[in-house]
Amino acid sequence: MTLKELSSRVGAEFQTHYGRPPRWIAAAPGRVNVIGEHTDYNDGFVLPMAIERYTVMAADSALASSDRAKAGEAGSSSAKNVSVFDTHFKETATIDVSVPVTKGQPKWANYLRGVTAGFQQRGVKIPALDVAFLSTVPLGGGLSSSAALEVCTATLLEAATGKKLDPVEKALLCQKAEHEFAGVPCGIMDQFVSVLGRENHLILLDCRSRQTELVPMNDPAVALLIINTNVKHELGSGEYAKRRAECEAAAKILGVSSLRDATADALEEARGKMDGNVFRRARHVIGEIERTLHAAEGIRASNWPTVGQLMYASHRSLRDDYEVSCAELDAVVEIAEEIGIQGGVYGCRMTGGGFGGCAVALLKADAVAGISKKISADYLAKTGSAATIFSSRPAAGAAVLKS
Ligand code: GLA
Repeated sequence: MTLKELSSRVGAEFQTHYGRPPRWIAAAPGRVNVIGEHTDYNDGFVLPMAIERYTVMAADSALASSDRAKAGEAGSSSAKNVSVFDTHFKETATIDVSVPVTKGQPKWANYLRGVTAGFQQRGVKIPALDVAFLSTVPLGGGLSSSAALEVCTATLLEAATGKKLDPVEKALLCQKAEHEFAGVPCGIMDQFVSVLGRENHLILLDCRSRQTELVPMNDPAVALLIINTNVKHELGSGEYAKRRAECEAAAKILGVSSLRDATADALEEARGKMDGNVFRRARHVIGEIERTLHAAEGIRASNWPTVGQLMYASHRSLRDDYEVSCAELDAVVEIAEEIGIQGGVYGCRMTGGGFGGCAVALLKADAVAGISKKISADYLAKTGSAATIFSSRPAAGAAVLKS
């Protein structure tokens, strides 16, 4: 569905649920990371793009309860609540914004609660609102469905409160929501690209300085395919935090403030001083930061075979050294390698946090249809389950669609 179609759909859902049209509509995209995995919280580089999959929210000021009773409408029971209707699961969350917002139930609403709290902490008074939302970012697919929900909430609140945030501050506010309300100590990549994505561009982000460089990705000869293994990934389960702690332990032993400042040689020299896991985690991060910069050069030069090789190397490193892949993701990458450049695949790797979710493949554009079919069939044969496959061009970041 195009963004325009999504916008009218969420508008219609709002109208059906609340009995009047929305005043604001906001959208924020998911993302796919082409390369640079588990480097963001090590002050390294990442190379993601926003995708044409979005969370979209429609909202209006909540009616005073007397008006509501007259109209016989659903929504906030009093003028101190933000009511959020999830149009997919048909569930409503109520957030009392007359007090500082804290964690609560249902669980999914914590992303919205965290962002609302972030606005409150900046002294912004949140009005009572009626909200309805839908999302085409697959849940738990490693395509940042949670960042899309957070950034969409922030974008909607900017419209509804008139408080416009600086884009980097907005990404940081959403990252804090994820840390404190969802319990995932994530880096900055997902929220950043959901805010700052650009059509036809990858974003080369230096996670230390937060400087970005736009890398054009509009060569009609190539396409990116996203292959969802449909194995749900769960970053809250603790493995993500464990990897982060192992990286910090390695940096400490190496005497640097983050692995961004470590070299492969220094790591090799210090090998005897660290636990084997800590060593391998650091080896992944140091290698991945280099691969990301090389891949950006390769993309600028349309050197697709080199970019593809870097993607495969990234996958091997994530599988063997970082240990965040899974059998299903490995199966997709094996299938891609079997098809090879002759068959139209330059490279493939797992994308996002790992432990399930999606792989991303770089293909010759004219081979997309045939390769999608072949990956589907071979994946089903290898794993016994079905993958979901789609391609996306680099999309723009979050926006207010109606105000
Ligand atoms: C998740 C996190 C990101 C990043 C990736 C791995 O998506 O939210 O900050 O660390 O994992 O690259």
